[in-house]
Amino acid sequence: MSSPTQLPAWQALAQHQKDMSETKIADLFQADASRAESFKATAAGWSLDYSKNRASDDTMKLLLELVEQAGMSNAIQGMFNGDHINNTENRSVLHIALRASKAQDTLMVDGVNVLDEVRSTLSQMESFVAQLHSGEWRGYTDKQITDVVSIGIGGSYLGPKVVAEALTPYKKDGIKVHFIANIDGSDITEKLKLLDAETTVFIVSSKSFGTLETLYNANAARAWCIEQGVPDADIKKHFAAVSSNVKKAVDFGMAEENIFPMWDWVGGRYSLWSAIGLPVAVAVGMDNFYELLDGAHAMDEHFKNTPFEQNLPVIMGALGVWYSNFHNAQTHALIPYDHYLRAMPAHIQQLDMESNGKANLLNGAGVETDTGPIIWGGAGTNGQHAYHQLLHQGTRLVPVDFIAPLKTHNPVADHHAQLFANCLSQSQALMVGKTLEQAEQELRQAGASEADVAAIAPHKVIPGNRPSNTLLTEQLTPFTTGSLIALYEHRTFVQGTIWGINSFDQWGVELGKVLGTDIYNRLVSDSDNSALDASTQALIAAFKDAQA
Ligand code: F6P
Repeated sequence: MSSPTQLPAWQALAQHQKDMSETKIADLFQADASRAESFKATAAGWSLDYSKNRASDDTMKLLLELVEQAGMSNAIQGMFNGDHINNTENRSVLHIALRASKAQDTLMVDGVNVLDEVRSTLSQMESFVAQLHSGEWRGYTDKQITDVVSIGIGGSYLGPKVVAEALTPYKKDGIKVHFIANIDGSDITEKLKLLDAETTVFIVSSKSFGTLETLYNANAARAWCIEQGVPDADIKKHFAAVSSNVKKAVDFGMAEENIFPMWDWVGGRYSLWSAIGLPVAVAVGMDNFYELLDGAHAMDEHFKNTPFEQNLPVIMGALGVWYSNFHNAQTHALIPYDHYLRAMPAHIQQLDMESNGKANLLNGAGVETDTGPIIWGGAGTNGQHAYHQLLHQGTRLVPVDFIAPLKTHNPVADHHAQLFANCLSQSQALMVGKTLEQAEQELRQAGASEADVAAIAPHKVIPGNRPSNTLLTEQLTPFTTGSLIALYEHRTFVQGTIWGINSFDQWGVELGKVLGTDIYNRLVSDSDNSALDASTQALIAAFKDAQA
C-alpha cells in the first residue's frame, strides 16, 4: 500500500478541513435537530455518541470514503481469515480466534485448526481454576491455595491486570490475585511480604519465555519459595506458566502439565483472551471469563459485519485520523468515569502505542503522515482536578473519549448521579466553552470593578469547540468489559490500516533491550567505557560509586 495521502478522500479531507475551519460543533447542533440521534451508533452493549465532534455529515462521508479507499473491507477480511497480515513477522493476527463463538468449529490457519488449540487450552484453564477454587490443588504442605501471583510484563501483564481490576465486583472469594511486572526489586519485595509460600501459586506469563524482567522475577519467586522451605521437588506445586516456548519453560523447571500454550498468531498486547488471561479467570471464575470472551466476540461480529457508517471501531478510528492528521492533534485522552476502569487508559496506551507507533508503510517506505497519537488518560472525576485545565484552556487540541456506565455496582447516597453529571458536564464544557462576554458578565454579576473585569475576564475565556466521544453502557460487566477492550483493539487496527502500517509488530522496542544488556555488563564489570558518550560514562560511574 502506498501512502494514504495519495488517496482521493485524503486530499478531499484536507480541503474539507479548511472549509470547516470556522464551523463550531455547537453550530452543527443548531443546524441539525436530529444530530444527537444521527451521530450515534451501538454495539455489544455500548452506545457511542459522537455528535460532539468537529464533523458534519460531509465530514463523515469523506472519512468513510477514506476508510473504503484504504482497503478496510479487505483488511478486516484478511484478519478474520487468518491471512499473514503481520507481514514483517509473516504471521496471522488472530486474537479474534481466542473468543470465537462456540458455534464455530474451524478456523484453519497454515493447515491447522486453531480453534482446536484454543478450546483445549480453555479446558485446561477450566481445570486449573476449578482445582484452585475447590482446594484440590494443594501446596507442598498440603494446604489450600489462597494467593495466585501473575509474573509477566507488557502484554503478558497489563491487559489481565486491568481486566481483573475492572471486574472486581465479580471476584470469587477464596483466592486473591496479585501481579508482579517490574524488574525493580521493590515490586516483588512488597508483594512477597503479603504472601505465604505454602499457599501461593505463581503463574509465569511470557509468550517468549525470554523477557528479562519476567525471568528475573520468576527466578526471584522460585528462590523465595526455596528459602521459605519449598523442596525442589515440590516447586511444581507452586508454579505454572503460560508460554509459546514450552522448552524454555520446562528448562526453567516448570512441570509440562502446568504449562499453558500460546501461539505466534497472538500478539502480546492482544493476548489477555488467551491463557495469558489465566489470572483473570482465577480471580473471577471461568463463567465470567467466558462472558468476557463473549463480549469481545460480539464486538468482533459487529466490526466484521456492520456497515461502516454504523461501525463503532471504524467511526472512532476514522475520527481519530481526522484529528491526528487534519487537525494536528498529538494526543488522545481516554477518561473513564468509573473507578474500576481507572487503569484502562494504560492498557489502551500499550495496545495502541505499541501497535501504531510506526514510521514505515507495509511496503517498507517511510510514512508521509503522522501515525499513532500519544494515548493517555485516567479516571474521572480525579482528572478534573488535575489535567482537565489543559483540556479546556490549553493550546493543544486533545480529542477525548468519555466512558461511563449508567448504573453503578456501588450505590452510595447519590454519588453515581454526581459522577455521571460530571462526565456529561465535561464534554459539554469542552464543546461550548465560555466567551469573553460571558466571562465579563459573570464578573460584573459577582460585583467586580470594571478594572477587574478587564483584567480577569480574558483568563476566564474557554475556547470550546473541543471534540469528544461519549461511550455509555448499562453496567460494567464481564461482557461489556470484553466488548469495550475489543472495540479499542479494532479501532487501533482501523487506524493502522488507514495509515498503511503494520499494527502487529514491535521492532522499536528491541534496541533498548540490546543496549540495556550492554550497559548492565558495564555496570557489573570493570569495562573500559571510554568509547561511550560522556553522559553515559558519567551515569555509569555514578551508579558504580553508589554501590561501592
Ligand atoms: O518488549 C515488548 C514485548 O515484546 C511486548 O510486545 C510483550 O507483550 C512483552 O514484551 C512481553 O513479552 P513476553 O510475553 O514474551 O514476555
